[in-house]
Amino acid sequence: MKFSRPRGTNDLFGERMERWHDVEGRIVRLVRGYGYSEIRTPVFEMTDLFIRAVGKATDIVSKEMYTFSDKKGRSLTLRPENTASVMRAFLENGLHRKGGISRFYYMGPMFRYDRPQAGRYRQFHQVGAEAIGSSNPAVDAEIIDISLSIYSVCGFPPLDVRLNSVGCPVCRPAFKEILIRSLAGYGDELCQNCRERGMVNPLRIFDCKKCGEVKKKLPFITDHLCRECGEHFSRLQEILDGLGIRYTLDPLLVRGLDYYTKTAFEIIHPGLGAQNALSGGGRYDGLAEDCGGGHIPAVGFSAGMERLLETLPESFPGETGDGRVDVCIILIGDSGSMQALSLAGRLRESGLSVLTDLSGRSMKKKLGAASEAGAGFAVFLGPDELEREKATVKNMMTGSQEVLAFDGIGPFIERERDNRGE
Ligand code: HAM
Repeated sequence: MKFSRPRGTNDLFGERMERWHDVEGRIVRLVRGYGYSEIRTPVFEMTDLFIRAVGKATDIVSKEMYTFSDKKGRSLTLRPENTASVMRAFLENGLHRKGGISRFYYMGPMFRYDRPQAGRYRQFHQVGAEAIGSSNPAVDAEIIDISLSIYSVCGFPPLDVRLNSVGCPVCRPAFKEILIRSLAGYGDELCQNCRERGMVNPLRIFDCKKCGEVKKKLPFITDHLCRECGEHFSRLQEILDGLGIRYTLDPLLVRGLDYYTKTAFEIIHPGLGAQNALSGGGRYDGLAEDCGGGHIPAVGFSAGMERLLETLPESFPGETGDGRVDVCIILIGDSGSMQALSLAGRLRESGLSVLTDLSGRSMKKKLGAASEAGAGFAVFLGPDELEREKATVKNMMTGSQEVLAFDGIGPFIERERDNRGE
């Protein structure tokens, strides 16, 4: 083979694709049930949007973006995440003028140039939801509830939510000063990366996998929240407690994007190893202003589809799961393709899924392929049958067969399936 897929990307097909559709379907039904409607934004945006929204000092912006110039020399970037794009679309389309809360969900590919490993890809997929226009902690609770529910509808056992508050522009600058002073005492124990970025964005140290020991000794932001952030955080916990949603407070959780204010959370899966976050989100009350809009508070989350699919429990209650067809039409001889296609069309109109095998290969191979496709029925079209507008229909389960007029095939299959209780 001359070509292989780019590093950190996946081909999706077969059973995995079927499961993917099934999971997506469940999630869409779930989020729609909370009143969220779909939004689709371009997979690339002006590079500045992500620099402004996600933050210059983050790994995503400083190391991981797929950035290119178009033919007019404009800098564009394949989206590394979708919250910035949703906010851009929300403002650009004047949706803020509507007032109230706007609720959106999305799904699609994201791109980050990171070192690929289990659960970490360069093209991955997220499904997410954003609620824009409210500062009420009840909406944070709604978002946390949805992000947990997408796993319960896929048969996961209860998962752990890590919860923190990362403050706001009122309390964070003062906390950063406290942190910088504290970090000065650990100079030698910090990794080079943290030593360098410590002065620009000291909170990033909480994200560092290498500086685990130092992190535990640093002051916690939750001990330095302003009154508003403190009250928001307490109220959110009261609501979660009232709803029976379990969570663990994690003062070291900061998330890898700079737009967060107040609430930050992640859902963790113990089986995922180093990349153990199934999903993450939080409040981003300053993002609309960073994007050139007014003060519009918002909160949201995104879940990684690959990580969800990779940890899907064995007990996943698959729906379409198997991708089977109902019927396989097998042509015998070399004429009659048109009639076979036309019969397939009629059967599909009656709601059946139909595969046609018009090839010249042996009957054994054709029957083998029909069973592999999971066909419950094989319909044989030979020269004699074609002349009489009839076909031989074989029930692949019982082996019984009948010669039927074209019009009778659909009802026959229905009756046979009813008898089997399908
Ligand atoms: P994030 O934590 O960067 O947040 O990504 C959310 C989820 O996407 C992660 O928990 C993980 O499951 C998945 N993910 C991220 N990077 C990769 C990767 N390289 N390979 C595979 N999966 C990955 C955000 O993107 C925010 N936009 C979430 C948000 C929405 N906050 C507010 N609204």
